[in-house]
Amino acid sequence: MTIMHEVQMKSPLHHLPRLSAMLDREIWIKRDDANGDLLTAGNKKRKLQYLLADAIQKGADTVITTGGPNSNHARATAAMAIQRGLKPVLVLGGHKPESKKGNHLLNHFMGVEVVFSGASTHEEMEQALNEHAEKVKEEGLRPYVIGVGGSNGLGSLGFVDAYFELKEQAAEKKVQFDWLFVSAGSGGTIAGLIYGCCQHKDSTRIVGVSPWLKTAEIKVKMEACLQEAASLKGDCRNLSLDGLPVYIHDEYVGAGYGCPTDGGMEALHLLASKEAILLDHVYTAKAMAGCIDYIRKGKVRPGEKVLFWHTGGTPGLFAVSG
Ligand SMILES: Cc1ncc(COP(=O)(O)O)c(C=O)c1O
Repeated sequence: MTIMHEVQMKSPLHHLPRLSAMLDREIWIKRDDANGDLLTAGNKKRKLQYLLADAIQKGADTVITTGGPNSNHARATAAMAIQRGLKPVLVLGGHKPESKKGNHLLNHFMGVEVVFSGASTHEEMEQALNEHAEKVKEEGLRPYVIGVGGSNGLGSLGFVDAYFELKEQAAEKKVQFDWLFVSAGSGGTIAGLIYGCCQHKDSTRIVGVSPWLKTAEIKVKMEACLQEAASLKGDCRNLSLDGLPVYIHDEYVGAGYGCPTDGGMEALHLLASKEAILLDHVYTAKAMAGCIDYIRKGKVRPGEKVLFWHTGGTPGLFAVSG
């Protein structure tokens, strides 16, 4: 089966010399925050290169998706839909914010049709999304529906490719990673990386840090993406996370989704002050807090090499104050 997708420019891979010196471990970063402009950059771009190619192949004229009120995925979907001549419609959870900040402001600049459904869980958001898609069809449009985070097997293929990209860059730079840390929200990003890692028979340990859901909930989503991505690749094995060197943590969430934590804010300040790299408080700062915690607790041993996968989310940072 030929799966249509666009080819992504490589995102930079580089060493973090000052952070490494401070934490006494060799730390590298994969810059998916730098894989586009502020409207398109981030991990979602890789999934959308598969999902939007599918939408176009299926003759859609509208792309409709969901997420939280300040969703990075929804903003990136809107931007990439516009660039491909498709009409974006966002059915976001929660309620209309009082002022336009962060991704909400960017959606406003793009003139995107945004509906706030009041939904709070992924399931409620997807229900509101599907209901709205029916209305859009009644208006005579041909919507392509993308669920929370663009996390399904097709979207995850973008991260199977991303792992291959990493391998090539790591070989050029003569580095092999013992650990890979990444934010794990709706699970599609980490599932693709895990499948890529298995394809290479690499022993890299992959650590996913939750911004919201419980570990068990994320694992269910990850396994669904893993299984679906594998079958799209013609791999009929019954895949499970059991026995793989994969660790999912929900203890860095703090008070809840989008609520800054002390560890996350420390990570954000450290990356900005030592390396002039911005993390976001919702996803990447908490993932980096997990990475720093592993290092400080000695779980990452001296001499081991660490990769932090920066998944973007920078515009979301501008919805909070310092
Ligand atoms: C900046 C950022 N990082 C990480 C994630 C988590 O990725 P995934 O939903 O594929 O697990 C998201 C998802 O919304 C995100 O916006």
